[in-house]
Amino acid sequence: MTNFGLQSAGLLPVQASAQATLIDQLFNAHYWVISFLFSLIGVFMVYSIVVFRRRGENDTQQGKFFKGSTKLEIFWTIIPLGTVLYFSYLGSLSLADIRRVEPQALVVNVTAGQWYWRFEYPETGITSGSLVLPVGEQVLLKMTSADVIHSFWVPEFRVKQDILPGENLVKELRFTPTLTGEYKVLCAELCGGAHANMNAPVIVMDKADFAAWEAGEMAAVSSDPAARGERLAKNNGCLGCHSLDGSPLVGPTWKGMAGSTHELADGSSVTVDEAYLIQAILEPNAAVVKGFPPGVMPATYADQFSEQQIADLVAYMQSLK
Ligand code: CUA
Repeated sequence: MTNFGLQSAGLLPVQASAQATLIDQLFNAHYWVISFLFSLIGVFMVYSIVVFRRRGENDTQQGKFFKGSTKLEIFWTIIPLGTVLYFSYLGSLSLADIRRVEPQALVVNVTAGQWYWRFEYPETGITSGSLVLPVGEQVLLKMTSADVIHSFWVPEFRVKQDILPGENLVKELRFTPTLTGEYKVLCAELCGGAHANMNAPVIVMDKADFAAWEAGEMAAVSSDPAARGERLAKNNGCLGCHSLDGSPLVGPTWKGMAGSTHELADGSSVTVDEAYLIQAILEPNAAVVKGFPPGVMPATYADQFSEQQIADLVAYMQSLK
């Protein structure tokens, strides 16, 4: 069936996972059976419309009356029933294959939030804003949401999974990338204003490149606090709302922020020191700088970041003169 598939006809994205091939086979089988049935109905309908049309004013001939046909009823019950059962058999075979568990799977913890993706590799302690994967190795995603319902979708992998908010509510998804390259994880569940932009790179590398990437990331983690803070900022979506070049985005720019003086929404003024920066991360709506809307920055960072990570972020902000 794959040779007559929609993918080889260029109508679907490349198959970049082991699951994609199986799902496409099933999809193609359905596609051709349904196309055949549809054309059968189409042909008979057009034939009937043309051949049995009313001809002229005096054509009052009545159709032949018949009262049911047991043979026909049995025929059109058995054939579709057999077809549906056969397809459910094929489907259950594919499902078992798609969900096959490999005990050595690479675990990645995924957090989806408004509007970012964060990927953590528990074995190495790496945190990344991109999902980087070795080719040919099964990956097990353990996914949670920080706020509303999101959905993990990489069209090239043909897998999709809703991610639900709630403590200890972890949704799992397994797949095996089979093609190196760069793809995108998209959010497939309407989740607010920037839903359409909620995507992140997915990079599938060969195993040697992946090991090199891991080594590089782990080296970066152990360097100076400001460098760690920079990685945290890039990997957690901070820079979506805070610029580094002085231009105001949704929130104040980080350039030159440390040490500057600002008027707050309540009319008082504040010098941005370490204590204020820490407060601004932990309780973002307690002392909002005048001119910026309150209630936009999520108040979830106290749970999301460790004390060390907050200190690293502050060190990074203070380094941006
Ligand atoms: Cu997250 Cu749409």
